Amino acid sequence: MSHLLRFPEPHTIIEPFRTRSVEPIRFSSQDDRAAWLAEAGYNPFLLRADRVTIDLLTDSGTGAMSSQQWAAMISSDESYAGATSFYKLEAAVKDIFGFKHLIPTHQGRAAERILTQSAIKPGHVIPSNTHFDTTRANIEFGQGEARDLVIAEGRQPQLLHPFKGNMDIDALRATIAEVGRERVPFIMLTITNNSGGGQPVSMANIRAVSAVAREHGIPFLLDACRFAENSWFIKTREEGYADKSTIEIAREMFSYADGCTMSAKKDGMANIGGFLCLNDDDWALHCRNLLILTEGFPTYGGMAGYDMEAIALGLYEALDENYLRYRIRSITYLTEKLAAAGVPMVQPPGGHAVYIDARAMLAHIPLTQYPAWSLVNALYLAGGVRSVEIGTVMFGQQPDGTERPATMDLVRMAFPRRVYMQSHVDYLAEVILNVHAQRDAVPGHRIVWQPPFLRHFTARLEPVG
Ligand code: F0G
Repeated sequence: MSHLLRFPEPHTIIEPFRTRSVEPIRFSSQDDRAAWLAEAGYNPFLLRADRVTIDLLTDSGTGAMSSQQWAAMISSDESYAGATSFYKLEAAVKDIFGFKHLIPTHQGRAAERILTQSAIKPGHVIPSNTHFDTTRANIEFGQGEARDLVIAEGRQPQLLHPFKGNMDIDALRATIAEVGRERVPFIMLTITNNSGGGQPVSMANIRAVSAVAREHGIPFLLDACRFAENSWFIKTREEGYADKSTIEIAREMFSYADGCTMSAKKDGMANIGGFLCLNDDDWALHCRNLLILTEGFPTYGGMAGYDMEAIALGLYEALDENYLRYRIRSITYLTEKLAAAGVPMVQPPGGHAVYIDARAMLAHIPLTQYPAWSLVNALYLAGGVRSVEIGTVMFGQQPDGTERPATMDLVRMAFPRRVYMQSHVDYLAEVILNVHAQRDAVPGHRIVWQPPFLRHFTARLEPVG
């Protein structure tokens, strides 16, 4: 063939991997699923996973590992102290995150527990864009107040804005002025903002929060679970970053912070693991002592050597631009298909999940009959799809036993990393559109039994009518 013949580069975005080990998808009939759902008390958390066809309950710890990760795991060092697997993880974290101290934990919330126990006293206030549930719970357990200061745009599901995870800087300044610098032990930013729809935070906002923190001498920490997805959004949406690599962007983000908490079950591309990073020597020493109490020796924390091997590579694989392009494209692809049929969603789509606005879609269901929970169950019946309610069942229960509607009733469909392919997404779209076409007939639900707190995990419900 002539070397003068030039073809255009293909533009189709494909899954940037091929499969060498497969796990069967489990099929079922709608009659099977109706019986299984009744058996599970109409609570998808109580379903056996082998009764689910497409599982979008969470993107946490559910991803596929690469052949390189598996290879590294085989050659891990399981020494109690000073394992080479720890030093590999430490080198990767130093290279990407740049913090001085790495404190390994078994998952993100263990890092949060150590951080909050080391720094929070009753009456303290910890500002964030939006604290994730476990961060909030750890802060409240220490009798601190977790204060969410996301920008107003971040609270309106269908309003378009490139960085709906940004913090309101005026509200941050006002909070510090109101409660006093000495009652703010640290400031956090969740990247991306999971509870706000997986929405990114801009570099400008990270820089601005950092400047306020430094001006007041307050430490600034990132909840970095989805740092790679956040880097991709900065690269593709923020002026001046298009030509920077995602690793350069990640390094810049972390350069403005004094530490981070990390769940390696997300952008660590591992099934378990996490860490806490800090620059301050004394604070890190204190945290290491807390680590030894419950997690383990400082060179493994709560992890096996092979977990640390998997994460040391996973952090780089999460930053791979071909991977990020495919991942964010799959979320956008589903959103576009649903939007064309008029399904109301959080827009623009975030990094790890599609969030359907069930309150808008199932407007005939009263909030006391849980529209988002009802949609989750309809999606399971229609196609064996498991999603999660982020709404009034999850957040509506008050400490005094009463109930208040949540701010929004959303259904989150979180994508495990590198697991599902385009045909799975086409199937998903079909299932959702089938439910959308018959949405007026979807019944509400009532709770027949509930525990005193965190009721969504174990409550039993039944359809109304
Ligand atoms: N921070 C954020 C932003 C999270 O999304 C999570 C977990 C954690 C911290 C806690 O990490 O699970 O390793 O202890 N999110 C999962 C989810 C559970 O489904 O969104 P962990």
